[in-house]
Amino acid sequence: MKYGHFDDAAREYVITEPKTPYPWINYLGNHDFFTLISNTSGGYTFYKDAKFRRLTRYRYNNVPIDNGGKYFYIKDGDTIWNPGWKPVKTKLDSYSCRHGMSYTIVRGEKNSISAEALYFVPLHCRGEVQRVRLKNTGSVKKSLKLFSFIEWCLWNAEDDMTNFQRNFSTGEVEVKDSVIFHKTEYKERRNHFAFYSVNTPIKGFDTDREAFIGLYNGFENPDVVSDGKSKNTIAHGWSPVASHYLEIELNPGEEKDLIFVLGYIENEDDKKWESKGVINKEKAYQMISDFDSSEKVDRALAELRSYWDELLSKYVLSSADKKLDRMVNIWNQYQCMVTFNMSRSASYFESGIGRGMGFRDSNQDLIGFVHQVPDRAKERILDIAATQFENGSAYHQYQPLTKRGNDAIGGNFNDDPLWLILSTTAYIKETGDFSILDEMVPFDNDESKAKSHFEHLEASFYHIVNNLGPHNLPLIGRADWNDCLNLNCFSSNPNESFQTTENKKGGTAESVMIAGLFVLYGNEFVTLCEKIGKSDEAKTAQKHINDMIEAINQHGWDGNWFVRAYDFFGKKVGSDENEEGKIFIESQGFCTMAGIGAEDGRAKQALDSVKERLDCEYGIVLNNPAFTKYYIEYGEISTYPAGYKENAGIFCHNNPWIMIGETIIGRGDEAFNYYKKIAPSYLEDISDLHRTEPYVYAQMIAGKDAFKPGEAKNSWLTGTAAWNYYAITQYILGIQPDYDGLVIEPCIPKKWDGFKITRKFRGDTYHITVKNPAHVSKGVKTTELDGNALASNKIPIVEDGREHEVTIVLG
Ligand code: BGC
Ligand code: NOJ
Repeated sequence: MKYGHFDDAAREYVITEPKTPYPWINYLGNHDFFTLISNTSGGYTFYKDAKFRRLTRYRYNNVPIDNGGKYFYIKDGDTIWNPGWKPVKTKLDSYSCRHGMSYTIVRGEKNSISAEALYFVPLHCRGEVQRVRLKNTGSVKKSLKLFSFIEWCLWNAEDDMTNFQRNFSTGEVEVKDSVIFHKTEYKERRNHFAFYSVNTPIKGFDTDREAFIGLYNGFENPDVVSDGKSKNTIAHGWSPVASHYLEIELNPGEEKDLIFVLGYIENEDDKKWESKGVINKEKAYQMISDFDSSEKVDRALAELRSYWDELLSKYVLSSADKKLDRMVNIWNQYQCMVTFNMSRSASYFESGIGRGMGFRDSNQDLIGFVHQVPDRAKERILDIAATQFENGSAYHQYQPLTKRGNDAIGGNFNDDPLWLILSTTAYIKETGDFSILDEMVPFDNDESKAKSHFEHLEASFYHIVNNLGPHNLPLIGRADWNDCLNLNCFSSNPNESFQTTENKKGGTAESVMIAGLFVLYGNEFVTLCEKIGKSDEAKTAQKHINDMIEAINQHGWDGNWFVRAYDFFGKKVGSDENEEGKIFIESQGFCTMAGIGAEDGRAKQALDSVKERLDCEYGIVLNNPAFTKYYIEYGEISTYPAGYKENAGIFCHNNPWIMIGETIIGRGDEAFNYYKKIAPSYLEDISDLHRTEPYVYAQMIAGKDAFKPGEAKNSWLTGTAAWNYYAITQYILGIQPDYDGLVIEPCIPKKWDGFKITRKFRGDTYHITVKNPAHVSKGVKTTELDGNALASNKIPIVEDGREHEVTIVLG
């Protein structure tokens, strides 16, 4: 069953049934002020860091799920309802939620009143604007009461949900006219406060949760709303909230707009106070006045829309397949922006307090984002590099607020360094900006240890070379891309984390996946060295790569597929010799992407084995057979029940590795089949099974060994977004930015007649028409640029700022 539909012209997903199979959410905010909002107005807001600067409270693992958010209660006579159905859950006459590009519009209608709540974070604003549009659609005059409601979080989200002995005494607010200010801890160590305003005089307010709701009630039946009047409470400790009370009269046909702003303000130390104990509100009033009329809100929304028009104009596909077009042109790019902003910190599956920005995650996210805002990509690359150690290894994560490596998570994930080569080369290919290599970047966030960014890449490359095991394959360290393949961990204590606990000494577990990764991105490093005239360095690096290929050939091939790893004791993992976990996806992906075995048939053999053993109706599972008992020598992977997460779940992040591998050997039908199996727009009809949003990827879909194959979890924040975008745009549709041109090398299903793409690249706009009269998958027969035949399928950089016509004929 479907719970809504795509509106491609508006770039929206329109939900028409509030009881979706799981909360279907959206993200507001583009830079440093963010909100998560569900289709029933649930969610929360933070500034920069979901752990340290949480503005509004949200309870994860709640019953029912998704309680708490930005609610508007309407009291119309005895009927109380919310435009987004929750929390009161009064049956609405009509309901819709439009999730668009950084905005959400929730609309409900009840007893001839329509209420539309628009939520968005304007560009360059540290605040969320909410516009409630009320309309009397009936024929009699209406007198309504409207109550807004948010619940403040006491800033540090982790402390907020644990340290009650302190927190119940710290909360402080101020109320002035129609603005409620939250100033907990402002008087001592904080220089920031938050506010919630409305652009009209109010009849009353509340800031004490217990007074507003009642100690024995819930969000669905707050005392104040049932009574129909506020209590004008000032919170002292306990749980501060913000609620405005408004009375509204509407004649038949009349419409009124109310504008609320939820803002975050920082004041300089010497400007914190207006008078003793009274906060300086100047900047808050400025923000409020920026959005105090509907015209201003319309203008800000129009700006946001044109920002997205521009972002999404850089790669536009027109094919015969609507579901594909909407993934490529809208939703996959949108999700890439969100993963770029959030890394793995805050979603409905990531609590915002556990994980900051991942070293490997954020580097990979960039391959789906770099074309959107290259300058932000550059800044991110340099921030990440600054958390690297001099020996090339890295902190696994860093906090976005401080940009410092996170000690508690540690390092020694031996794949980490290589992803920096991927992101940096992707950035240079997109922009031509080699100057990033000369930027001075600290190691370990220590300015005195700064070296050029190029030297960081060198350190990345040599970290692998300097850490080889007995088979001359890379040592795995704590784990490689697969956080749960903990070959040196040997954990028997359920109270410790597999990723951070002390590893057993003396182990020499090796990773064939990192070996493939090294060949692939090592080759990128060599090409880069050549481009910048370091040919000796390139030659030396090439030798190391050749040695690695040799090691893979000798020790990494199992007969029908690539081995996954060698364990602590030197035994094969992911081999036919094993009873369970005979074959893993990662090494098949990376070795085939690196072209290993492409010439002698092993790549094809490996991919055939993937098809035979790992593929299923809903995607490609990670390993097979699934582990059915705990293997202490493998770690977390064998803790998951069969078919879930890293234990034979469909990890949507690495399915595109196989898609790309398929394109390397020219099998476009296979590649696109895999693409369609997990792309959310193709799964809309099975929403009841899939459960998560049909417009964004989830990290995992339960695999064939699971209780419920096809059920997805962990939507939004996953490397799946960037990798699928990369696979479809660069390898299947085949438009690849390169240092000195745009390479066009599609690998598509044979039955396709062709497609068109507009690609903005280095200041020019290329209108690319791909024709497939011979119905092949791969192989460019002729290339034309502005009517002139070219000798190769690389379009040179014209750089005249104009539009260019490119015609490619496959055959
Ligand atoms: C999950 C992994 C994740 C890791 C992060 C594990 O429990 O299964 O997907 O990467 O935690 O620490
Ligand atoms: C999710 C993590 O964010 C990512 O870093 C890791 O590679 C995958 N899980 C696989 O374990």
